[in-house]
Amino acid sequence: MRYSYGKAILITGASSGIGRAAAELFADAGYMVWAGSRHCEESVEQRQNGGEIRSIQMDVCDEGSSRQAVERAVAEGGLGIVLNCAGMGIAGPAEDTFEEAVRAQFEVNYFGTLRVNRLVLPYLRAQGKGLVLVMSSVAGRVPIPYQSHYSSSKYALDAYVEALRMETRPFGIRAALIEPGDTKTGFTAARRMAMPADSPYRQTCEGAIARMAHDEETGVPAMKPALAAFRLAEKENPPVRVTVGAVYKGVMALRKIMPARAFERILAAMYQ
Ligand SMILES: NC(=O)c1ccc[n+]([C@@H]2O[C@H](COP(=O)([O-])OP(=O)(O)OC[C@H]3O[C@@H](n4cnc5c(N)ncnc54)[C@H](OP(=O)(O)O)[C@@H]3O)[C@@H](O)[C@H]2O)c1
Repeated sequence: MRYSYGKAILITGASSGIGRAAAELFADAGYMVWAGSRHCEESVEQRQNGGEIRSIQMDVCDEGSSRQAVERAVAEGGLGIVLNCAGMGIAGPAEDTFEEAVRAQFEVNYFGTLRVNRLVLPYLRAQGKGLVLVMSSVAGRVPIPYQSHYSSSKYALDAYVEALRMETRPFGIRAALIEPGDTKTGFTAARRMAMPADSPYRQTCEGAIARMAHDEETGVPAMKPALAAFRLAEKENPPVRVTVGAVYKGVMALRKIMPARAFERILAAMYQ
């Protein structure tokens, strides 16, 4: 076991799914885990190998609670890693998804990640070492119909992390993306449909979302992407991104080599 960035980690979105699985994995390996989410009781859970999970209330859309969580973690043992898992999905057609839903999508997935990292990065810079991990998605490089705004929020994270890596490297900070595909978590039940009742896309959109929900519910367990994050934390020079699972690595390879219109036809056919 290599603790390349020390033994303290802040995980956002840690009350459920991938964030929760990551909290358990890191804590069982001896880490002190600050597990942030909106819906949790403050508590300390002792785990194997001296690790613990300290659940802490934190809304990544709220500056005050995010600042409090980061400052507390730093004051009580320091911080070496931040793993941004807080996220949600809205579904709707690219044309007429309600704008306020699109903004809410970016507020959590993109600006929430930015907010937390902006609070953590000064500490990492001061100590000359640290790791920023972002739970993106395969949808951050392959846009999904009827989840165009979710995909856009993940594409935005992709560009942000690539640039952040170059900017923070001189300060000893590393950053990487994790790209899961369908994963069985609370994400499916939490997804919000956001389109007008009379949308001309309604029927196709509902069919596509039902297909996606099925794929997620029969997807890999949350521990798989959590393990990808855990392995990145052992690396002093992590890659830009890790795609989770052989199937999705194959999808990414196909996307690179196939003509764009041929790839698009296959993708579109999956969600008709
Ligand atoms: N499941 C998949 O198929 C899949 C695939 C690719 C990528 N991902 C990504 O993986 C990440 C984790 O999702 P998941 O699948 O584990 O879903 P999940 O089970 O629904 O977990 C989402 C977590 O985010 C937290 N959260 C939501 N809004 C928040 C906010 N404003 N502030 C703080 N925490 C917030 C939730 O807790 P509270 O409600 O208590 O705050 C929960 O702990 C997301 O970024 C998602 O986009 C998921």
